Amino acid sequence: MTESPDDVLAQMIRDCRQNGWASSVMPFFYVESFARENGWEPVATRRGDSSISRLKPTETNAANPRSISAVSGSGEQLLHVDGAHLHTVPDLVVMHASIPSPTPTRMWKPGFDIRHSHAVRHGVFLVGSGRQTFLATAVDDCGLRFDPYCMVPGDKRARDAWTTLTTYGDIHEHRWDVPNSLLFVDNRAVLHGRAKAVADQDRELTRVAYQAGTSK
Ligand SMILES: [Fe+2]
Repeated sequence: MTESPDDVLAQMIRDCRQNGWASSVMPFFYVESFARENGWEPVATRRGDSSISRLKPTETNAANPRSISAVSGSGEQLLHVDGAHLHTVPDLVVMHASIPSPTPTRMWKPGFDIRHSHAVRHGVFLVGSGRQTFLATAVDDCGLRFDPYCMVPGDKRARDAWTTLTTYGDIHEHRWDVPNSLLFVDNRAVLHGRAKAVADQDRELTRVAYQAGTSK
């Protein structure tokens, strides 16, 4: 018997929660409908933006100054969670590519020892900028909050946490090599980032961050 899109998406959520990510192949509108039915809340990760983002390689001088591209351009991104600058970090990131791209998305799930290390649990970072700045640790009861593009270490422990969380272990690469490739990332357990896309200027992903209640 063929599985319905809803069955596949429900299994993806279980796999994502267990492994940190899950992938499948289907048009994006199935995800939007599944999200509505299950009460997932789409989160705009930048104020004033739509919750649905079109991610394209953008050179530093053309990028939104608050975006990762303003720093990394179309080079390799440091691994991060999405929405680390928000008081409530979204727990699920959904990415989708209608058209294949040769540029993978890289993911790393820091292990228990890292997430529970003294530095990561207690190092204090300044998060965001200007009036929106607040203090936070790189992990809380709901999981990771780490984005080296919007978090500045505020003490020695945070500097150690920064080093730990930018010294990657086993990286998994999701390859966007078929049309309608779909990726779920547990945004409170896994850091992600785009590989170098200098030779892939046509790459376009759709990305939505959700508060889905799917994290541990
Ligand atoms: Fe991201």
